[in-house]
Amino acid sequence: METIDRVAGMSRAAGIFRREGRTIGLVPTMGSLHAGHLELVRVARARADIVVVSVFVNPTQFAPGEDYETYPRDPERDAGLAAGAGADVFFLPSVAEMFPDGFGTWVDVDGITGVLEGKSRPGHFRGVATVVIKLFNIARPHFAVFGQKDAQQVAVIRRAAGELNTGVEIVVVPTVREPDGLALSSRNAYLDAGERRRATALRRSLDAARDLVASGERDPAKITGAMARVISGSGPAAIDYISLADPDTLEELTALRPGAVVLASLAVRIGRTRLIDNELLTVD
Ligand code: PAJ
Repeated sequence: METIDRVAGMSRAAGIFRREGRTIGLVPTMGSLHAGHLELVRVARARADIVVVSVFVNPTQFAPGEDYETYPRDPERDAGLAAGAGADVFFLPSVAEMFPDGFGTWVDVDGITGVLEGKSRPGHFRGVATVVIKLFNIARPHFAVFGQKDAQQVAVIRRAAGELNTGVEIVVVPTVREPDGLALSSRNAYLDAGERRRATALRRSLDAARDLVASGERDPAKITGAMARVISGSGPAAIDYISLADPDTLEELTALRPGAVVLASLAVRIGRTRLIDNELLTVD
């Protein structure tokens, strides 16, 4: 595996791979790699000649007061893990090169960025979409791999990649979980032992939603109500949102129609840690 820390170096390497006719798969991350990220790398490995893993803690997607400064960083460990999962290139650009002083070109996706995560985290998806399109232009992938864990991010990137004619295929990998159902996240490290136990409530509330839909419940308010009861029954936790929405438009559903695929999602603060999870439910 080769480590590249300059934008020009990555562009040059991508140009060479392209001229040689090799397919490039990109896995964008913010590092602190865990088994969820490594699953994305393995999916890319199975489909591409060249797998590029980028690690960039993107300051533009953190709102003031969020954990940009304290976000866990360990590039040496990440490099070893990425190599072990089959990466060919480990791309580690600097903030100074990605967002130099005076940077002023932004990718703003309308509509779907003002709800759910976007409502609690103003500017977040502008930062995400901008950095992802920049990474596409630098690494020139044929496809890029993202996790279902961040369902709204997938919807935003699909829109931006399509509407800006990047030609990059968006590949989505199911959420990787702990044995007790907690979705893997770099932020799980912030939980103390009691919070860690309570954090399983997110998965359990999604199970409740799935069971209700499977048993014929079609009223979204009844389903989100049951999800909220699972969360509040687990101990102190602040619900940010619980949503049943269309997975592409992210519009809240007022009824569940047969054959529909529904994105059940939630964000909950446990202690000082904000956790998110989601599941795609099919209405029979
Ligand atoms: P990060 O949080 O590091 O996540 C990188 C990728 O790993 C994302 O596509 C995310 O959805 C995926 N991922 C995280 N946890 C996962 C899990 N438990 N199972 C499956 N996939 C998981 O998401 C970002 O970084 C950034 O917003 C980024 C896209 C890199 C832009 O800065």
